[in-house]
Amino acid sequence: MHIEPTGEACGARVEGVDLTAPLKAETVAAIREAWLAHHVLAFPGQAMSDDDLERFTFCFGPFGDDPFIAPIEGRDHIIAVRRAADEASRVFAEAWHTDWSFQETPPAGTCLFGIEIPPAGGDTLFANQHMALEKMPDALRAKLEGRIAIHSARSAYSKGGVYGEDDRAARSMDIRPSDDALTAETRHPIIRKHLETGREAIYGCVGYIVGFEDMAPAESLALLGELYQWQTREEFQYRHKWEENMLVMWDNRSVLHMATGGYQGHARLLHRTTIGER
Ligand code: SIN
Repeated sequence: MHIEPTGEACGARVEGVDLTAPLKAETVAAIREAWLAHHVLAFPGQAMSDDDLERFTFCFGPFGDDPFIAPIEGRDHIIAVRRAADEASRVFAEAWHTDWSFQETPPAGTCLFGIEIPPAGGDTLFANQHMALEKMPDALRAKLEGRIAIHSARSAYSKGGVYGEDDRAARSMDIRPSDDALTAETRHPIIRKHLETGREAIYGCVGYIVGFEDMAPAESLALLGELYQWQTREEFQYRHKWEENMLVMWDNRSVLHMATGGYQGHARLLHRTTIGER
């Protein structure tokens, strides 16, 4: 197996392993080590079926619980990240986030497999949140130290949210907004130790984070804005360019990510699973 770091803030390209076949335990361990070190791994040239994608995901933990988006037909754990060539809805996930951070135990990782990739555009951006914390000015860190962030899915997945009832008709993805998104709130420390490596990172950003415990809403919003400006700086980013038959796995505990557009007139289709915490 050959692991080539991107030379950017995170990410590595991995070749010399066949993900369409069952993996030996030592190969899984080597991939896990690389994943924890680089936070985002891209495996090009993998003509994976949905069975392969599920088998690969399951090597790294239980499947995550994916709310608000219906799985593809015949599968419980795969969703389609899909956009039609002529689609007019806003690009799905084109905002910095870490997957399902509003859950009590959010997914450790996400696997995304490129099936139909536009000739240009549609990159995925990642922002390394260990690096953003390590380089953070002391004054900002002092404001965040010990703070507990409140996460909610309401602005995205409630019926009046970004992916709510008004969005459904124009979207080819099967998103199911729900009142559940209005009520559920979860708390996570904003500076959080990675559950496997113990390394500290910023966990989450404004969007799913709606405020801080014991802080007035206006003050929370101002601090979230200041944090957002810092944690998404270009110096912490890696821009991932997709290829068909490429699998990418990222560590939600270490990076933020966001989709990008720029491919109007071309379809884009990827299959996605999440890896639950072990
Ligand atoms: C996602 O956030 O799961 C989707 C990312 C992408 O479409 O690039």
